[in-house]
Amino acid sequence: MKIEAIILAAGKGTRMKSALPKVLHRVGGKPLLEHIINTSYQLGCTQPIVICGHGSDQLKSYFADFSLTWVAQTEQLGTGHAVLQTLNQIDAGTRYLILVGDAPLISAETLSALANSASDVTLLTVETVNPKGLGRIIRDANGQIQRIVEEKDANAAEKAITEINSGVYCVKGSALQTLLPLISNDNEQQEYYLTDIIELALANNISVNTVTTANSDEVLACNDRKELAILERVYQRQQTTKLMLAGVTLLDPSRVDVRGEVVVGQDISIDVNCILLGKVSIGNNVRIGANCILKDVEIGDNVTIEPNSMLDSATIGNGATVGPFARIRPKTKLAENSKVGNFVELKNTQLGVGSKINHLSYVGDAVVGESVNVGAGVITCNYDGQNKHQTQIGDGAFIGSNAALVAPVKIGKNVTIGAGSTINKDVSDNSLGIARARQSEINDWKK
Ligand code: UD1
Ligand code: CA
Repeated sequence: MKIEAIILAAGKGTRMKSALPKVLHRVGGKPLLEHIINTSYQLGCTQPIVICGHGSDQLKSYFADFSLTWVAQTEQLGTGHAVLQTLNQIDAGTRYLILVGDAPLISAETLSALANSASDVTLLTVETVNPKGLGRIIRDANGQIQRIVEEKDANAAEKAITEINSGVYCVKGSALQTLLPLISNDNEQQEYYLTDIIELALANNISVNTVTTANSDEVLACNDRKELAILERVYQRQQTTKLMLAGVTLLDPSRVDVRGEVVVGQDISIDVNCILLGKVSIGNNVRIGANCILKDVEIGDNVTIEPNSMLDSATIGNGATVGPFARIRPKTKLAENSKVGNFVELKNTQLGVGSKINHLSYVGDAVVGESVNVGAGVITCNYDGQNKHQTQIGDGAFIGSNAALVAPVKIGKNVTIGAGSTINKDVSDNSLGIARARQSEINDWKK
């Protein structure tokens, strides 16, 4: 049967104290709502229905490239009222996962258990130690669910129940068409409670069932920034656990954060205070030192990233060494066994096999050949105030310390550049290029 999602995201999130709609706050670098949308795509939903109200313009602009159906709920009269707004989008034969926009950690496994339930209405319940504020599950002597009672409407005995409503359901479209219009607001909060569909279904001979998850983390929702921080920690613990189970040593899993997708080989070790952002792939036998930030990088095998290095949108070849204190900027490609040392900044640069830039350099917009040695303090002057220009350095060249290479310029193969030279003309293969004032000596100099 076809499956689709309905995601509740109209609430204001007053307690976030924010100009941003609650569901745009981020966990693991991604908006809360994006996690849920992605999980629903994973389950085969093709165009989830998002119920929006507060901040809907901001939502629509963030998710402009996503396949979604937007439904407005202009007044927030309750969860039942929210889903009622989708009524004319509902197809009788489709099963709908009803999800909450501020609970991003629900797993695809749990949702598929809901989706595969034989009943027309299936509810996800959770056993918790602290049910405060949540809807309680009322069952009869046979354990069959009867109804859900909200905390505000519950008596003392009902409040003692620890099985709660997660707020996540799977309901057949035809059941929604029958039940949504029957929900009233005759309760303590004078809200239209979606929870009423359980009792209403039973009264209308529609089958009802529950799925229970033991993992209450899955349904953690976010109401304020304290809870957002808790969600972040739970999410990070999930990510670091995955990494460790995949064969990565984390010296302290509580001090590595993942904000994106990481693909790993084996025998990788990551020291404390590292952040992995965007799409990161790391080969086998790689060591990443403390305090490194890796964003959208592809790292080969046998690579060492020494501490305090920042790498962004770069490719690091097998056997390369980077850092400590290196800054590798976008479109940089380090070939096999190359070496970039401390206080070196590279941008849009290709460094050839076995080449070294070991100390205190800026190399930008450059193509550096194989087995090149770039001395300490070498700078490519790539910007003339108007345009960026390229520097080319041939195989086997030796660039003396503190040379300035004024681009566009081409240094030939096996060239030697004298230390301290300012090179603004091409240097041909196998030559010495030197451009500096001669040293002179004045004898018996009086101080
Ligand atoms: C709801 C359930 C409760 C359950 C809990 C789990 C009801 C009546 N109660 O309670 O049984 O234990 O979730 O977290 O359903 N929303 C709208 N429009 C509205 C109202 C809410 O879009 O008119 C959205 C909110 O933005 C939020 C979600 O629905 O993302 C849940 O609403 P909320 O008011 O937090 O429901 P709870 O009182 O927590
Ligand atoms: Ca809530």
